[in-house]
Amino acid sequence: MCGIIGYVGGGNAAEIILGGLKRLEYRGYDSAGAAFLSDGKIQLIKKQGRVEKLAPLLKEIHSRTGIGHTRWATHGVPSDINAHPHCAGGIAVVHNGIIENYAELKAELISGGAKFVSDTDSEVVAHLLLKNYRGDLVFALRETVKLLKGSYALMAICESEQRIAVARHKSPLIIGYGADGNFCASDEPALAGLCNTITILEDGDIAEISEKSVKIFDRFFNPVTRNEEPNLAVSASLGLDGYPHYMLKELNETPLSVEATARAFEGVKERFREELAGVRRVILTGCGTAYHAALIGKRYIECFARIPAECETAGEFRYKNPVIDEHTAVFAVSQSGETADTVEAARLALSLGAKVIAVTNSHRSELTRIATVSVPVAAGPEICVAATKSYTGQIAALYLSAAVLAGEKFYADCAEKIRLIPNLLTLTLESLDMRSLAHVCASSSGVYFLGRDLDYAVALEGSLKLKEISYVAGEGYPSGELKHGTLALIDVNTTSVVIITDEELAGKSGNAVEQVLSRGGKVAVITSLEGVKEKFSGKLPLVVLPKCDKYLSPLLSAVAVQMLAYKAAAVLSREIDKPRNLAKSVTVE
Ligand code: F6R
Repeated sequence: MCGIIGYVGGGNAAEIILGGLKRLEYRGYDSAGAAFLSDGKIQLIKKQGRVEKLAPLLKEIHSRTGIGHTRWATHGVPSDINAHPHCAGGIAVVHNGIIENYAELKAELISGGAKFVSDTDSEVVAHLLLKNYRGDLVFALRETVKLLKGSYALMAICESEQRIAVARHKSPLIIGYGADGNFCASDEPALAGLCNTITILEDGDIAEISEKSVKIFDRFFNPVTRNEEPNLAVSASLGLDGYPHYMLKELNETPLSVEATARAFEGVKERFREELAGVRRVILTGCGTAYHAALIGKRYIECFARIPAECETAGEFRYKNPVIDEHTAVFAVSQSGETADTVEAARLALSLGAKVIAVTNSHRSELTRIATVSVPVAAGPEICVAATKSYTGQIAALYLSAAVLAGEKFYADCAEKIRLIPNLLTLTLESLDMRSLAHVCASSSGVYFLGRDLDYAVALEGSLKLKEISYVAGEGYPSGELKHGTLALIDVNTTSVVIITDEELAGKSGNAVEQVLSRGGKVAVITSLEGVKEKFSGKLPLVVLPKCDKYLSPLLSAVAVQMLAYKAAAVLSREIDKPRNLAKSVTVE
């Protein structure tokens, strides 16, 4: 998945595209490029690496129409050649998505004489546009998309037309209306400060964007009117506010995330209760960190409401022929609300008659739009690729959702308990000192995060975060399973981080600590329990968390493991906010 932006108007297209690409870089940063219309010719500039590399080259461009792209590579290595835009004849195109039938299309185009230069799937679109061009770019795009399988948000320009043709299918695309021209982009942040109103295109839509007008057509090429909405990204502050990284800034915003999410929940509580009345079974789904939040949500729903709940990564859920009926509720958890696997899982659940609950930080995302009801996560913009405050917000939203399902009185009690969390998180953030443990983890051959029940779910998150931003290998493991295999990996070069926040399970997880110690492995314990502190004090590194309700303890221990990952990545001088090979928003399957 990638970020794309286009502009046509009276302003300086190069400056506008560059600014937009910088704001879109969280969607991919393997390469960046742009194409402009200048004196009836296409000017193409593209480079492997960060958007910043384009800046000096774009100074030379004088144009009022352009399209730009920031890439997360799926087909073809990151390189100048594979960077977008791709061109054929006098046509240039940028693409976000995957053309699944590109190999057949490419073979056919080559047999017709087309010359390909890149290894991307996207280049076929440029050649198809050229093949279908009869003096009308929008018509050519319409004919082209008929042949494509997969997902796409496309923007194309042509040297003989002063307009941009766009199309979308399963990849996000919006149009923005400015005072001095019109825009198109993957999402609102790209257009922050550029326009006050936007239109979110629907699947199958094709549009023609000119300086003074925008025409939208549906999948049957009938002219349609789509709603204009305010561009909420206009006033968003995306600065670092003095922090060295967005990740640290966002970790420090976790108290606000929980507080705002709990407040926002009040606004949807009744609707949520009504929609879920009579639900007999719950499935929770998501990817990566959102899946880890879903695991915690599953426990809440079973423990609080005694409704059977399952949890499945979205990519797996879709292909399991899930047993779903109208008494099933599917919680789709996603920071971005755009993750292709999660959105498609939600669509599948809806088609089988389930109620879908979107738990998302992105209130105008595709997931929000298709869901039966949305439970907002109010974490605010999360810029760092690694999720932090959205995860704590998701846990808070799932906690309150489960509480509602358990009844009025239970909910009132939980709402009271969660009110204490922002202060406890602030205390945790103030008291955490992860420096020496971070050094130990950074120099370990493997780091194992262990825990039981809710602590296990947090262990998975700790392990993912450490891998993702420090590139130190390891695993999240249920501490009871250690002796069934993973113990063989433990030696003096490994570190185990054991999370113990549940009184009833403390003895069992304590056994895992002893097992690792007796094999010579290094161990640290994260705990909020007095007994555990006493037992291990002076014997191994202890990270002590404030006392907290057992079910809400994941909020505090999550911040601890995420901070540990952050500090370890800092020790290793990693590029923390933009880890290699990744992107914030995964809109391909
Ligand atoms: C890890 C991380 C990813 C995301 C995953 C899902 O730090 O951020 O694992 O959680 O890609 O993304 P969303 O929540 O946007 O669906």
